[in-house]
Amino acid sequence: MGRLEGKIALVTGAGSGFGAAIADGFVSEGAHVLVADIAVANGVEIVKKIEAKQGDSGGSATFLEFNVTNRSDWEKGLELATSKFGKLDIVVNNAGTTYKKQPSLEVSEAEFDKILAVNVKSIYLSVSVIMPYFVQQGSGVYLGTSSVAGTRVRPGQVFYGGTKGFMNTVTQGLAAEYGPAGVRVNSICPLRGATGLLEMFSGVPDTPEERAKFALSVPLRRMSEPNDIAKAAVYLASDEAAFVTGVNLPVDGGRLAV
Ligand SMILES: NC(=O)c1ccc[n+]([C@@H]2O[C@H](COP(=O)([O-])OP(=O)(O)OC[C@H]3O[C@@H](n4cnc5c(N)ncnc54)[C@H](O)[C@@H]3O)[C@@H](O)[C@H]2O)c1
Ligand SMILES: *[C@@H]1O[C@H](CO)[C@@H](O)[C@H](O)[C@H]1NC(C)=O
Ligand SMILES: *[C@@H]1O[C@H](CO)[C@@H](O)[C@H](O)[C@H]1NC(C)=O
Repeated sequence: MGRLEGKIALVTGAGSGFGAAIADGFVSEGAHVLVADIAVANGVEIVKKIEAKQGDSGGSATFLEFNVTNRSDWEKGLELATSKFGKLDIVVNNAGTTYKKQPSLEVSEAEFDKILAVNVKSIYLSVSVIMPYFVQQGSGVYLGTSSVAGTRVRPGQVFYGGTKGFMNTVTQGLAAEYGPAGVRVNSICPLRGATGLLEMFSGVPDTPEERAKFALSVPLRRMSEPNDIAKAAVYLASDEAAFVTGVNLPVDGGRLAV
């Protein structure tokens, strides 16, 4: 029996990187997942890959074209989950973006507006659309993808880190506010991983030498892998974490400890 048997989940940014691994991990544990992404070709490809792999988990993946900064897309997501599957149990607000590593004084207003919209406003919109449904249902799991940068911000990614600090604070606040209604709210704080955003974070080409250099700054001596994040997401989304809420969980190989 899968650890997410019969659960219905919406995962944003699921066309790539951590979100794709989370969707895959959820389906392999028996969940029905709406793979929500603004990038249509990637999202469709991920659904195909998941379907090719997962014959017998009982789960499924469905692509949904989705812009996390658009309220009506959140409404459409909730509507699709309830009309197709009868309910929604889990939302993973994972889509995020950044700018290429650069001095904070050089970040343009357009770059700033974009990270605010995708990383921060998406939290407001998703909560305002999904939370009333979870409260009425008397249960629900809201999971965000934050970052180690939300507490340990590095030069060159300062405003990005600020958006993740916002997520960490709001995660705790919403957990306190909606715990009595049966809703759990947590986030995962990954260390740098080899996703579509890698070269934006590092500001340099992704080479074996660069990876080796970075690994030396991590107690467990490597970057994060999408599967590390997916495993944590499965746990936090499952009933195994029934008493876990308000947590911003580092999945960082010990990076925040040094
Ligand atoms: N990769 C890292 O090193 C790292 C570290 C810590 C946290 N994170 C966070 O992980 C999350 C996932 O990023 P990733 O690293 O997998 O990068 P990624 O670029 O591989 O995936 C991000 C996905 O989000 C989608 N997306 C972007 N804007 C969107 C929008 N407006 N609406 C819907 N979808 C949108 C993209 O199309 C893409 O498929 C982000 O929130 C990011 O901040 C990444
Ligand atoms: C996403 O939505 C926002 C406004 O809700 C819009 O400004 C932006 O252009 C949209 N992005 C895409 C790629 O459609
Ligand atoms: C938001 O998405 C809807 C479809 O879900 C679309 O009709 C609308 O134009 C979008 N709004 C913006 C501002 O992009």
